[in-house]
Amino acid sequence: MDDPLNARDLDERLARLSLERKVRLLTGATMFTLRGDEEIGLEPMAFSDGPTGVRGLDFTGGPLTCLFPNATLLASSWRTETAEEVGRLLAEEAERQSIHVVLGPTVNLHRTPLGGRLFEAYSEDPLLTGHLAAAYVSGLQSQGIGACVKHLVANEAETDRHGVDSVVDERTLRELYLLPFEIAVDDADPWSVMAAYNKVNGIAATEQGPVNNGILKGEWGWLGLLMSDWFATQTAAPAANGGLDLVMPGPTGPWGPALVAAVEAGEVEEAVIDDHLRRLLLLASRVGALNAPRAWRTDLPEPGGAVRREQLTRLAAEGMTVLANDGSLPLARGASVALIGRPALETTCMGGGSASVRAPHQVSIADGLTEAMDGVTVVDGVAVRARVRAGQFSMRVRMYGESGALLSDHVSEEARTVGFMPDQELAEPVTRVVMSATVPGGARRIGVLAVGRATVTVGEASYDVTLESESDDIGGDFLRPPGWQTDVVLDGPTELVADVTLGGWAGLGLVAEPTPPTDDDAIAAAVAAASAADIAVVVVGLTEEQETEAFDKSTLALPGRQDELVSAVAAAARRTVVVVNAATPVLMPWASEVDAILWAGLPGQEGGHAVAAALLGDIEPAGRLVTSFPAADGASPAWGVAPTAGKLAYEEGVFVGYRGYAAKRAPAPAYWFGQGLGYGDWEYGEVTLADSVVSVDLTNVSARASREVVQVYLQPTEDDQPIRLVGFSTVSLAPGETRSVEVACDPRASRTWDDGAWRPLTGGRLLVARGLGDIRGEVPVPTGDLEAILAELVGRPLDEASQVVTDAGWQVRTFAPGSMLTMDYREDRMNLEHEDGTVTRAFVG
Ligand code: BGC
Repeated sequence: MDDPLNARDLDERLARLSLERKVRLLTGATMFTLRGDEEIGLEPMAFSDGPTGVRGLDFTGGPLTCLFPNATLLASSWRTETAEEVGRLLAEEAERQSIHVVLGPTVNLHRTPLGGRLFEAYSEDPLLTGHLAAAYVSGLQSQGIGACVKHLVANEAETDRHGVDSVVDERTLRELYLLPFEIAVDDADPWSVMAAYNKVNGIAATEQGPVNNGILKGEWGWLGLLMSDWFATQTAAPAANGGLDLVMPGPTGPWGPALVAAVEAGEVEEAVIDDHLRRLLLLASRVGALNAPRAWRTDLPEPGGAVRREQLTRLAAEGMTVLANDGSLPLARGASVALIGRPALETTCMGGGSASVRAPHQVSIADGLTEAMDGVTVVDGVAVRARVRAGQFSMRVRMYGESGALLSDHVSEEARTVGFMPDQELAEPVTRVVMSATVPGGARRIGVLAVGRATVTVGEASYDVTLESESDDIGGDFLRPPGWQTDVVLDGPTELVADVTLGGWAGLGLVAEPTPPTDDDAIAAAVAAASAADIAVVVVGLTEEQETEAFDKSTLALPGRQDELVSAVAAAARRTVVVVNAATPVLMPWASEVDAILWAGLPGQEGGHAVAAALLGDIEPAGRLVTSFPAADGASPAWGVAPTAGKLAYEEGVFVGYRGYAAKRAPAPAYWFGQGLGYGDWEYGEVTLADSVVSVDLTNVSARASREVVQVYLQPTEDDQPIRLVGFSTVSLAPGETRSVEVACDPRASRTWDDGAWRPLTGGRLLVARGLGDIRGEVPVPTGDLEAILAELVGRPLDEASQVVTDAGWQVRTFAPGSMLTMDYREDRMNLEHEDGTVTRAFVG
């Protein structure tokens, strides 16, 4: 979208506002909205999470909206086209709800497999993450909806997430954790970025002058808006001076009068406030919130309609990843199938926390597969949850205030709600909430989620329970509330009431579900069904208890007795296929006992349809892993997530994930980053290299059309330089077809941060691999005459006075007396650095 603002226009607008009025605009108006100001033509703006659906302005009970496959599943396609399409579709979902900015993508890396929020982020690799993020941002912003790349920076774990200090050396920060942000900024210019909760090397991310002002806004020349993560900002002057532009949420926060006072006391220059506001106005102009309200599109597909079903099924199935296959997959349509496992019936379609949405439906694998083929017998499995879970039905909610007055009486479409929110405009604070619903008869598990005292009544029975807070995290009890449940037998439909006296800010919910079988009964029934069928398909997985914001994992083992279930079924069945319904690495001790393994991620609202399409081969599950799967708990280059004395040291440095495994800093993984079989077979020809482009002839030697991901890794010569992905490309070929595939190597991945500057790596080898466990070819990298290349780029010979500080061969600085010229690799940007260190920035072309 064109930027209608010019400096004069901006200055005129700013001049109309008092300091108080300016500062007022720099804190949110509510949980997810910003204030407008008529005086300067600023319309209110609305933000929504993000990243795998547009939830809208409410945490619970909001409008129905599309639930996309989770980020690791989408990333597993290794296709920027996929990420771009997702961005465009999310923009449509945002338009439907009048949302200006979607809070995504999440570009933090998979540093340790225990990170609770990995499901929301793309990969352990910064290049893959950066390219996918840039494509997602481009898709979103091409429709005039702002992206918000989050969370800047070194925010890879959830334990003590509001206080933890991530200790990361500058090289590691630059080469790994900042790189996805840098690529997104360079390639897609996101209109906003979110500063994380954590500290980085002792300074809060919201006050991180060196990163926010120095790198993001300075070196990278980014003009967007930097907002805080929700409730992250602790200070006025340090945050305002440290580059933070906007405090979220509102209406209150640490800025307001405190920031006005800081300006008046000379601690913050008014020019700094003006810069924050300029960025806010630029965002407003970009999303259509300046001068007039935006005209929202209305001709959009329904979240649960046929168009979205097709799109979301395809996007999910394409990322699913075949980890083992002796030929059992694709399933033969005429086979009789025993479909086993709790996640087959209760498929986990999304992770927990701010990324969750209210989907029109969530198709279970049981429903998806029985719809797609005949001969499926569905059998429940062992328990997979340790915590109480709110039901999937509507309920009546009555909220009462301190005075006993009834403040609200409404029907919630979900059996979960929130007692109170900072921005709820109720006459007085809610102190008591009564939730009720009618429960069908039979053996039922009933219960309540809350923090406080609850009386749960069902028919004649009544239970008094006290539920204590379980988390120090500000949103912990809210995202994962404590719960209580018990099993009852009801004669017929019965009223279930939970009367809760609130004891803290927490999620609330009502539980009512059929009483599940015991684990022993479930295993016995599964074995019987497996022996009677041609093939057993066991679905195992994690749930939003593990795949969640605010909490990390403590193990990669599947919860409950799922491993035992798989082994028992594998011993009894003729053939066994395991479907893993998890977004992140899990341990598979039974891998050698089964015939095929399909990793299915958290597949979104069409999950069951997508798994059926992948199992049957209607859509090829052509995914490749985006993160290494360790062979055992602890067997990864980085593991622990618990800070020591408040500090989480990124001790493994640049040797994260496959970089560390390849350097033998951990036992070999069970499955490598980049691994995935698809349903095709591939022959690779000779690998050649010209001008940073790797070419290889690829032949699909299988009998079906298939998609391959050609991955190029640089193995540098220097010992302290890890192997790293420098390019990738996906290609779909018909059976027997050969094509020359070209992969451009990104110079941003083949440089090192050396003593305060980028230095390109020269020499070494480029490996073409299907994950580092399956290397198909290689080519040496010539140690080229860089200066000659650069002279050509600059258009004249470099003279004696020129010094070359290259950025992987693409950037040149020539020193003239008193100044230094830096040309960006895109040649559309120039920085004139003066001797005193100040920088004049110019955009050209
Ligand atoms: C999360 C952000 C999210 C925000 C708003 C925070 O808890 O860390 O990713 O966008 O809440 O819901």
